[in-house]
Amino acid sequence: MNLYDTPSEAATAAVDEAIMSRRSMRAFLPTPVPRETVEAILRVASRAPSGTNTQPWQVHVLTGAALRRLTDRIAAIYEDPLELASHEQEYDYYPKEWASPYLDRRRKVGWDLYGLLGIAKGDKARMHDQHGRNYRFFDAPVGLIFSIDRRMQLGSWLDYGMFLENIMVAARARGLHTCPQAAFTQFHRVIAEELAFEPGQMLVCGMALGHADPEALENSLVTERAPLTEFVRFLEE
Ligand SMILES: Cc1cc2nc3c(=O)[nH]c(=O)nc-3n(C[C@H](O)[C@H](O)[C@H](O)COP(=O)(O)O)c2cc1C
Repeated sequence: MNLYDTPSEAATAAVDEAIMSRRSMRAFLPTPVPRETVEAILRVASRAPSGTNTQPWQVHVLTGAALRRLTDRIAAIYEDPLELASHEQEYDYYPKEWASPYLDRRRKVGWDLYGLLGIAKGDKARMHDQHGRNYRFFDAPVGLIFSIDRRMQLGSWLDYGMFLENIMVAARARGLHTCPQAAFTQFHRVIAEELAFEPGQMLVCGMALGHADPEALENSLVTERAPLTEFVRFLEE
């Protein structure tokens, strides 16, 4: 596309489709994703803007035995309550005190997911198992782990979000799906050790990447969005 031309309708539709068809998928097929595809996605994603072009992202791409080693290690900890209690998130993703409307939205997505899977409120064992699927990257053949130099500040985390979204959209353009995963932050110490992070690198999150399982009930979850009237103000005069 010429940079200054009006895009064709097909180009607009393709971009919108890639964005609108992105959903967090929580069950993947074993179908492998070629390394060249992962590289193409990351190359495109790295066109994300960043303050003064700092490009604060570091990506650790896990497949095969390396993926299994990490997931086995975390899964073993996850199933050991004593050991699990000694692992804490390095940074707060969520507010310490939840308030409306965020709490309501959070509850809704949780119950909608568990409802689809037939997990009753209070069924702690099944909730534990479902949450634990995070640590297998929901069986995706590619697990991405993202880290950042811990000297970087809040602005770089903003940049990071754009990079992550680019990955998810570029994956859609290639028929692939993703699930961004903050769940990994609880195991930042294990991950930094297992993946031999360079000193000073800090875990941001993980992401499952692969072909979504179209038969899996959890993948039929479609989350809501607030209408524009709830979050947009036009100031014209
Ligand atoms: C940074 C980030 C971390 C997330 N972490 C998790 C996670 O650990 N496990 C999970 O199942 N979903 C995770 N999600 C997915 C959200 O629950 C999901 O984006 C939200 O409910 C909206 O649904 P959608 O992605 O299908 O549009 C995460 C999303 C983001 C952006």
